[in-house]
Amino acid sequence: MCLIEVSDLCKHYVSGLINKQYAKVLDGVSFNIERGETLGLVGESGCGKTTLGRLLLRLIEPTSGRIFFDGIDITKLDRTEMRKLRPRMQMIFQDPESSLNPRMRIGESIAEPFRLGLRGKISRSEMRERVLELMDVVGLNSEHLNRFPYQLSGGQNQRVVLARILAVNPEFIVADEPTASLDVSMQAQILRLMMGLKSEFGLTMLFISHDMEVIGHMSDRIAVMEKGGLINIVSG
Ligand SMILES: Nc1ncnc2c1ncn2[C@@H]1O[C@H](COP(=O)(O)OP(=O)(O)OP(=O)(O)O)[C@@H](O)[C@H]1O
Ligand SMILES: [Mg+2]
Repeated sequence: MCLIEVSDLCKHYVSGLINKQYAKVLDGVSFNIERGETLGLVGESGCGKTTLGRLLLRLIEPTSGRIFFDGIDITKLDRTEMRKLRPRMQMIFQDPESSLNPRMRIGESIAEPFRLGLRGKISRSEMRERVLELMDVVGLNSEHLNRFPYQLSGGQNQRVVLARILAVNPEFIVADEPTASLDVSMQAQILRLMMGLKSEFGLTMLFISHDMEVIGHMSDRIAVMEKGGLINIVSG
């Protein structure tokens, strides 16, 4: 069974109170993502890639259509059921600073999912050990533990974001242009790290980019999106 199954998904935005105008950003999109697969998603700016990514995690509501995660139609879940499912699906954004609390030290930020009990109760010392372990996995060390996001580079902050995500033990990740804000050499490092994490943790990914070379490198299959949300899957 596929981890993600999308069927006839539509997202229309309505604007104008009197003369209503409908922008059909997605209009009947269907595709699957297999377990352990990275599906690359490319397409020109404004064609609806971010919209699709957000819909898959139900950060926004679809106009119609169905989204199955591990066989569960998430469009039918209520808030409580969705909250339970949420740790299993995570999103990485282009700008790492926007997903980190600027007033929280790196160590606290990575410990937050443990503190919130998303993975059961653990002691303080065990928490510290887990945080250091995760920092090691993403290529950070104890030196960074007490720093704030503004004291790290963009690439280091994206590593913190990855550590925080891994802390909740997700199965599915939507990566929305995760390296677009980084310079070329840092981009390569983060992409290599993500490839490694994918195989180490058996992650399934939707990897969004408008860079064909990056997509080709990262993806098992590639979906090309056009305006109106038509998707053609071309083999990766
Ligand atoms: N809340 C909203 N209300 C109205 N229109 C919206 C809203 N959010 C997005 N749109 C429109 O939906 C379309 C798709 O936007 P989206 O951000 O998904 O594109 P994208 O493919 O991710 O573009 P980019 O490559 O620039 O990130 C755009 O035309 C955008 O203006
Ligand atoms: Mg986008």
